Amino acid sequence: MKYGHFDDNRREYVITNPRTPWPWINYLGNEDFFSLISNTGGGYSFYKDAKFRRITRYRYNNVPMDSGGKYFYINDGESVWSPGWKPCKTELDSYECRHGMNYTIIKGTKNGVEAEATYFVPLKTWAEVQKLTLRNTTNEVKKLKIFSFVEWCLWNAASDMENFQRNFSTGEVEIEDSVIYHKTEYKERRNHYAYYSVNEPIQGFDTDRETFFGLYNGFDEPQTVLEGAPRNSEAHGWSPIASHFVEVTLQPGESKDLVYVLGYVENAQDEKWESKNIINKIKAKETIALFNTAAKVDTALAELRTYWDNLLNVFTINTGEEKLDRMVNVWNQYQCMITFCFSRSASFFESGIGRGMGFRDSNQDLVGFVHQIPERARERIIDIASTQFSDGGCYHQYQPLTKKGNNEIGQGFNDDPIWLILGTTCYIKETGDFGILDEPVPFDNKEGSEVSLFQHLTVSFNHVVNNLGPHGLPLSGRADWNDCLNLNCFSNDPNESFQTTENKTEGSKAESLMISGLFVVYGREYVELCKKTGNIVEAERAQQHIDAMVANVKSYGWDGEWFIRAYDYYGRKVGSTENEESKIFIESNGWCTMAGIGLHEGMVAKALDSVKERLDSEHGIVLNNPPFTKYYIEYGEISTYPPGYKENAGVFCHNNPWIMIGETVQGRGDRAWEYFRKICPAYLEEKSDLHRTEPYVYAQMISGKDAYLPGEAKNSWLTGTASWNYYAITQYILGIRPTYSGLMVNPCISPDWKGFSVVRKFRGATYQIDVKNPNGAMKGVASLKVDGKLIEGDTIPFMKAGATYKVEVIMI
Ligand code: BGC
Ligand code: NOJ
Repeated sequence: MKYGHFDDNRREYVITNPRTPWPWINYLGNEDFFSLISNTGGGYSFYKDAKFRRITRYRYNNVPMDSGGKYFYINDGESVWSPGWKPCKTELDSYECRHGMNYTIIKGTKNGVEAEATYFVPLKTWAEVQKLTLRNTTNEVKKLKIFSFVEWCLWNAASDMENFQRNFSTGEVEIEDSVIYHKTEYKERRNHYAYYSVNEPIQGFDTDRETFFGLYNGFDEPQTVLEGAPRNSEAHGWSPIASHFVEVTLQPGESKDLVYVLGYVENAQDEKWESKNIINKIKAKETIALFNTAAKVDTALAELRTYWDNLLNVFTINTGEEKLDRMVNVWNQYQCMITFCFSRSASFFESGIGRGMGFRDSNQDLVGFVHQIPERARERIIDIASTQFSDGGCYHQYQPLTKKGNNEIGQGFNDDPIWLILGTTCYIKETGDFGILDEPVPFDNKEGSEVSLFQHLTVSFNHVVNNLGPHGLPLSGRADWNDCLNLNCFSNDPNESFQTTENKTEGSKAESLMISGLFVVYGREYVELCKKTGNIVEAERAQQHIDAMVANVKSYGWDGEWFIRAYDYYGRKVGSTENEESKIFIESNGWCTMAGIGLHEGMVAKALDSVKERLDSEHGIVLNNPPFTKYYIEYGEISTYPPGYKENAGVFCHNNPWIMIGETVQGRGDRAWEYFRKICPAYLEEKSDLHRTEPYVYAQMISGKDAYLPGEAKNSWLTGTASWNYYAITQYILGIRPTYSGLMVNPCISPDWKGFSVVRKFRGATYQIDVKNPNGAMKGVASLKVDGKLIEGDTIPFMKAGATYKVEVIMI
């Protein structure tokens, strides 16, 4: 069953039934001010950091789901309703939610009144703007009472949820004209406040939650709204809110716009106050003035659309496959931008409190957005590298507000350093900016410790070389990419974390075949970079380590039909026929085949065939098989999950593309394409009832074939799945790949594809690429012509910027 449809021209997903199987959300803002918004208006806002600067309150995992948000209540004399159906849940005559590129439009009609709320964060603005358009479609006069609603969060989202003995006594607000200011803690150490305005004189307001709702009423039945009268409450402690009351009379056919601004302000220490205890409102008023008419709001929204046109025009495809095109041209790129902004911090599954930016996560995310916003990718690389230590190790996560490493989670995830090579080389290939390698970058953010970014890559490479185990394979540390395969944890205490508990890394023999493959792939990238920058001796040194790793994988990592996953603490195989459960894992087979280890000896083909046979399913490739059915203390968190869920044999969508890319190494485009479609959300739209999460974005996990209910997705939006699928489809299946010497076009496609076309902007030039597949090939370029001129090989050399070139590629 479907709950809506794609509107490809407007780049929107249109939800037509508010009772989606899970809240289907969108993100507003992509710079400093952010909001999450569901299809019924649920969600919250924050400035830069969802933990430390939470502006409005949200209750995760509540009953009912998705409670709290930016709500409008309409009392029309006959009924009380909301344009997004919730929170009132009054049956609407029509409902529609359009999630677009950083904006959302929710429209409801009832009793002849149409209410359309447009939510977005204008570019370069520390505020969310909401335009509420009310239209009378009847022949009678309509008198409407409009109540807005947001609930303030007391800034720190964590303490806001736990320290009530303090929280209930700190809340402070100011009300002036049509603006409600939230200034809790402003008089002490905070230099910031928030505000909520409307561009009309108000006939009343409420700022105390209990007064607005009544102590025993839910979001669906605020007593003031039901009574049709605000109580003009002024919050002192308890829970401050902001609700404007505006009365609107609409003649037949008449419409009216109200513009609300929910903003955030920071003031310098000596500019905090207007007078004693009265906050300085200058900046708030400046922002409000920028959006005080509907026309100004429409202009700002048009600017946001143009901004997205430019971002998405860098890479567009036309394959004749509608679902593929809309994913690659719009939604997959959009999701990559969102993972750039939030890493794994704030979604409807990530509470915005527990996890900041991940070292490995943010580096991987880079491959999905670097072509859109290379300057911001540059800044991100420097930020990430600054959280590295001088031995190459690094903080696993850092806080977006401070950009400092997060001590609570610490370090010791031994795959982390290598991802920096991926992020940096992707950036240089896209931009040609080798200068980034000379940037001085500190260790652990300590001033005075700066070395060049290139040296950071060297210590990253060396971190693996310096941490090899008994088989000459990389030691795994706390965990490799699979955070739940904790081979040194040995925890018997349910109060301990599998990732951060003091573990038995010292003397451990736990080695990772996933890091082995990763090291070979990105070690080679490092070697290529060394050669490009004239570091020939270093290139040779590095190559020797890579050759040794390849040899060790072949000797100790091959199980006969596939690559084993690891050696455990005791030096016993994990992911081998020798094991009773989980005889085969996806990650090592992904990375070792991507690295082409044993390609000529048939290892790649065999490993991929084993994956097909043992891990593939209707819903995608599961992580391991057979799943763990009991707790193995020496494997950590992985065996805590019931079979089929998460890292224990779930379809972990992040790593499916590794197999797709592995298949392209072997030249099997049909398989790569089949795997792609199985997890690509647009292809799952018709089975939304089962899949449950948004049909326009990837989820981290779909329950696997051994689960109680296979095919159910969880953890949508903030997952490396977005960038990896984008990378696999664009660079390996469609085969359009930036390199140091130009733009490679080397597809690996299904033999039934007749061809496809791509427009790619690259280093200032535009390439209109036409790929033809006359003989039903899967891989191999017979000829490549640029503006009619035959070029040797599969790579378009750099052409003059500013011009457009026609490229014709004929497959063999
Ligand atoms: C989750 C992982 C996550 C890790 C660290 C685990 O419980 O299953 O996906 O990466 O926690 O937060
Ligand atoms: C989610 C984490 O963000 C990512 O870093 C990790 O690799 C996967 N979980 C797999 O455990």
